[in-house]
Parts: sequence; C-alpha cells; structure tokens
Amino acid sequence: MVYKSTHGRTVRGSAIHDTGDVKKKRSKHVLDKTRDTKWHKDKEAKEIEELKKEKMEGLGGLERERIEAAYLIPEIENFVETDNVKNIEERVKLWLGAGYPVHIIGPTGCGKTTVAMKVAQDLSRPVVWINGDDQVTTTDLIGGYSQIESETLRDRYIHNVFKGKDILKADWVDNPLTLACKYGYTLVYNEFSRTKPVANNILLSVLEEKILELPTKYGEERYIKVHPDFNLILTSNSIEYAGVHRAQDALLDRTVGIYMDLYDSDTEIKIVEAHTRIATPEAEEIVRVIGNIRRKVPDAEKPGTRACIMVANGIMASNGYAEKNIDQLYLDILATKVKGPEDLNQKQKLVSEALSKPTAKST
Ligand SMILES: Nc1ncnc2c1ncn2[C@@H]1O[C@H](COP(=O)(O)OP(=O)(O)O)[C@@H](O)[C@H]1O
Ligand SMILES: [Mg+2]
Repeated sequence: MVYKSTHGRTVRGSAIHDTGDVKKKRSKHVLDKTRDTKWHKDKEAKEIEELKKEKMEGLGGLERERIEAAYLIPEIENFVETDNVKNIEERVKLWLGAGYPVHIIGPTGCGKTTVAMKVAQDLSRPVVWINGDDQVTTTDLIGGYSQIESETLRDRYIHNVFKGKDILKADWVDNPLTLACKYGYTLVYNEFSRTKPVANNILLSVLEEKILELPTKYGEERYIKVHPDFNLILTSNSIEYAGVHRAQDALLDRTVGIYMDLYDSDTEIKIVEAHTRIATPEAEEIVRVIGNIRRKVPDAEKPGTRACIMVANGIMASNGYAEKNIDQLYLDILATKVKGPEDLNQKQKLVSEALSKPTAKST
C-alpha cells in the first residue's frame, strides 16, 4: 500500500548535527558583519553543506566508534564463520542490498543476535541498537523531549522600567530509530516481536514511504526523509513469536524473513572452542550430549548453542568437580526451565541417557 498525502508536507532532508568545524564556520560568519550580503550568505550555506557532506561521507573509524560507544551496542566476540554461518550472513546482506529490511527468526540461542550484529558491522555504517520488550514505546524508538530549559530575562534598560520575560526551551533527543533514519545508520532491533505492535506502527511509513513521522513534533520538523544508507535488521524468537505480540502483517509483509535453525554440530563445536578454549574432544562431547537432549525435549525447552558454551565454561571452572559430577552440570543448565520436582527427575533421566555413549551394538 502506498500512502497518499492529503496535504502538502515539507520533508526535512539530510539534516545532521553540527560538527565542531561547522559550528566554527557558523560563528566566524556570524562575527564577520562585513560579509552580510546575499552572495556571502549563499556561499556560507554551500560551504557548510559541503562540510557536513564531507563529514558524513568520511564517517570512518573514529567517528563511527564514537557513535557506537555513545549508543552502546553489544560486542561480538570470537565470531566463528563456517559455511553454514556464511550462508546466512550472505543472505542477510543480499536482501539488505536489495533494499529490504531483514527479519531473522529462529529458536533461542541459535545465533540470531550474533549474525545480526556481525552483518550490521560489516556494512561499515555506524550501528545503533534497540532491544524489544513489553514496555518499549514509540518514544523509546524515536526519542522525545528530554528536559525543559527555562531562562529569565530581566531588562532594566530604562532605570525605572522593569521588563521580565520567561523563555522555555525544550530539548529534543533522538533515539536509535530517528538517528538511523536521519543519518543512514544500521538499526538492529533485537527481539522485535516482544514489543507491542502499536509501538512498532511508526516503522510502517519508514518502510513504505521512506518517511519517519515524529508524532510529537510540528511543522517541517515532524517529517524526516529516510537516509538512503538506512538499514534495518530485526530478530525474533520463533518459539515466542506465535505467542507474544504478533507483529502486524502489514509490517511483516515489508520485510524479508530469514529462518535460522540451530547450527550443525561442526559449527557448534567450533563456537564452543572459540568461546571457551576447551579441548576439541570435550567440545565434541558437549555438542553430542546437548544434541541428544535437544531431540527429546519440546521446542520451547531445547537448549541452544548458549547452553553448550555454558557447559564448557562450567567444566573449565569446575576444578575437578565435573569429572565425577558431569551429569549435575548438565542438569543445572537444563534446570532453568524445570517446572517442579517431577520434571527435574525426568530431566535427570534424560541427561543420564544422553551422556551414555552408544554401544557398538546399537550403532
Ligand atoms: N557465529 C558465531 N560465532 C561465535 N559465537 C556464536 C556464533 N553464533 C552464536 N554464537 C554464540 O552462541 C550464543 C547464542 O547466540 P545468540 O546470537 O545470542 O543467539 P540468539 O540471539 O539466537 O538467542 C552466544 O553466546 C553467542 O556468542
Ligand atoms: Mg538474541
């Protein structure tokens, strides 16, 4: 669906924050009264625009690091890139390159967030991040007025006349969606389906009309034209997906879905090794045991790659305890989703079965 505007709008284009250089340039021109002709003003405006463009285009290393540090994004460590991982990365990049937002869907702990962050960082634009949940509102996505500044002017120019004036100024602060739309950053919206659909409605016109409408602003400031470098990666848990807040179809129809399952054993072994430096045979055994458990529990309880890493870390930290009590270690990790003593007994059995090596006969 294409929205038709019913009234003329002014769309604010490539506005960006004034940088130090731009501010200096502005103040220099303001002070220089002799240059107050139209020709000089046009020249000044052109120079400022050029400076801004230069800053944006050259948004490399340091500037990007500064932005990402200010908006705290999760770091990806020990990234493992097997053919399976590469295939997903390539598909995400392909669809982003084709101009579509990508929605990565998969079970808990299969690596959605990690792939989303890795691809986002490979795009060499600053990355901003939002984590969806029940409490997230549109304001959390776009920003709002952070504080009201009050200023009082007292004018006693004529000694017996007193003139007072109160000025209230509201400070607007951009949140990640606005920043990404304005300056062409990559927005990773993690666990997007946990947010109530009404808060995500704002994304519709961003994806369809390429316009971000800031509902609490008025006049030309209300509309922001989405920067051509803007990219959006959403992640959702496939298990929760059906249950929690089902996102509106209109929004989903405008995204490409990439379904990720838990990785193959070889990839999981490499991930466990990369995160914990545990010996390969031990990593192989952990992945085998967790794989066995996975096959026997319902979808919502299937332990993911994160569980494999946790077992490995437990073994590494156990100082000999794990040698005699390995089943307890696995059980402790599964127990986070235990419903009661009976369920715990069942899980205990499951762990024992999973730990027992297949005999020559049964293979
Ligand atoms: N390609 C990968 N390389 C290294 N570690 C990975 C990779 N994919 C997943 N992991 C690790 O596996 C765990 C689960 O991944 P995560 O991205 O958080 O899953 P999800 O977002 O699907 O719940 C994390 O500890 C993460 O560091
Ligand atoms: Mg995640």
